[in-house]
Amino acid sequence: MCGIIGYVGCQDAKTVIISGLRRMEYRGYDSAGVALVTDHGIEVRKKAGKLKNLEADLAAHPTPDSHEGIGHTRWATHGGPTDENAHPHLGPTGRVALVHNGIIENFAELKAELERAGATFLSQTDSEVVAHLVENGVASGSTLREAMMAAVARLEGTFTLVAVDAQAPGSVVAARRNSPLVVGVGEGEMFLASDVASFIEHTREAIELGQDQIVEITATSVDVTSFDGSPALTKPYHIDWDLSAAEKGGYDWFMRKEIFEQPKAVADTLLGRIGPDGSLILDEMRIDAATLRSIDKIIVVACGTAYHAGMIAKYAIEHWTRIPCEVDIASEFRYRDPIITANTLVVTISQSGETADTLMAIRHAREQHAKVVSICNTNGATIPRESDAVIYTHAGPEIGVASTKGFTTQLVACYLLGLYLAQVKGTKFGDEIHSLVRELEALPAKMEEVLKDLGATLDLAQQLHDVSSVLFLGRHVGYPIALEGALKLKEISYLHAEGFAAGELKHGPIALIEDWLPVFVVVPPQGRDQIHDKVLSNIQEVRARGARTIVLGERGDEAAASYADHFLALPTVPTLFQPVLAILPLQVFSCEVATLKGYDVDQPRNLAKSVTVE
Ligand code: AGP
Repeated sequence: MCGIIGYVGCQDAKTVIISGLRRMEYRGYDSAGVALVTDHGIEVRKKAGKLKNLEADLAAHPTPDSHEGIGHTRWATHGGPTDENAHPHLGPTGRVALVHNGIIENFAELKAELERAGATFLSQTDSEVVAHLVENGVASGSTLREAMMAAVARLEGTFTLVAVDAQAPGSVVAARRNSPLVVGVGEGEMFLASDVASFIEHTREAIELGQDQIVEITATSVDVTSFDGSPALTKPYHIDWDLSAAEKGGYDWFMRKEIFEQPKAVADTLLGRIGPDGSLILDEMRIDAATLRSIDKIIVVACGTAYHAGMIAKYAIEHWTRIPCEVDIASEFRYRDPIITANTLVVTISQSGETADTLMAIRHAREQHAKVVSICNTNGATIPRESDAVIYTHAGPEIGVASTKGFTTQLVACYLLGLYLAQVKGTKFGDEIHSLVRELEALPAKMEEVLKDLGATLDLAQQLHDVSSVLFLGRHVGYPIALEGALKLKEISYLHAEGFAAGELKHGPIALIEDWLPVFVVVPPQGRDQIHDKVLSNIQEVRARGARTIVLGERGDEAAASYADHFLALPTVPTLFQPVLAILPLQVFSCEVATLKGYDVDQPRNLAKSVTVE
């Protein structure tokens, strides 16, 4: 939540910062603001609403020359989305400007203390308190860096803070605890940002920052210490994608572009992980085989779409490894007091690698001595850094708030992990693994096939975009797909949508069925006789009550097609892999419905891409 950026260098700071914020607007769009260090002090501009409001204001009232500044795009937590609550916030005299991502949990006490000393505040935010603390520090003779160190020592909660001091031009200082921050290293210019996408057009060299670190950048230097001032180790890395990956490339929405990138993203995620004999090569599994063989329980932990990937992983992992596998919503995990031992493997799934609930689950699991493997799409993010091992998905940057290629690549990474565990434990013969691996390798071409044949899905969106409710049903791995299909529709189309386990419908939700209510049903491939036939019965149950059935099933499944008002055909795959195909028309459907309704698909209301608060 919230995107923050700091810049110092030779370019026009306002231009660099605004373009950086544009690429981070997916992180929050309740307001945006900049603070520029100029020859006449700090110039702050901030506006409620999307970045375009700030841009209009800057165009109407130009700012003086500046080569240094900070910027912020907000997802509101403390205080509504108003101009006053927009960042940057200023200290008492306007000498220090500061932006913040996270939550300062003890801000009320700090605010009361500062008010007793005579301070007045202009906003309801927790962040303005920190601007006051830092400015009080520099006013009493500390450097900006020392003032930041003293301020963070007083803070509880999660934060990335970036500040400038009008009386110390040429340097930007930041602090990081539990919220993302990376340094971009340019030639004669440096960047600080929540996401590398914000500076990718200027440099592909970055430095990963650790927890509880302070960083000071000038145009030519980067100096990192821990909160107590001791020198800190940093990890430079090269960003392996370029500007084009962070742009829409001719599509109307990032989401649509990302939907069509999925075959390549899945192929990239498989790349280098399969040996010539069809065995799995997971070099990044830094947990030795003996430890993996001792695993007697697996718990998959994630949020939202990643949680749905985790639900599917459970079916695959248990089937292939015979190790009991639980799945938890990360925000619930710690509070149910899960039974975790040193023989438990916790698998976390996160596209961003910064989701606070998932991160806290990892910390809880590690405190109980479990091993943690994370599946993540973001190089160097906090979650992979805090895990024992990481399997990166190679989806490239996912910018649309609604996760698409993040999801399908997470599924593939889960399959790889499950098959790898089966290989290590010997619960599957080599030739069985080989044959499943070949099916995995065939997925990108089958995904292309689905994405080339979307006429029926687009027609459906035309016909259904005005309905008030849509249901999704599935069994086995079709059930999480029903949940994911409903989530996609809810989050970008604001339509009431519910996913159900198809067999559970008759225990209550079937009362929702009324004349011509659209019900999507995911039918497993025909080989799975029992489940296949049970789902067909469920379709008949809803049809008998007047529902309009939209059936996703295997091409050539005449029985399924005969119960469908609309049939969306999928290529043949093993049941466990069907989710990778079945989700594609559902993603396209929700993208199209939201477009037809005139909504902002990439920036749906109330949401942010990366949820870094609990
Ligand atoms: C899905 O479309 C959402 N953006 C959301 O549910 C997301 O999957 C969830 O917040 C988890 O994010 P993560 O994968 O970055 O941890």
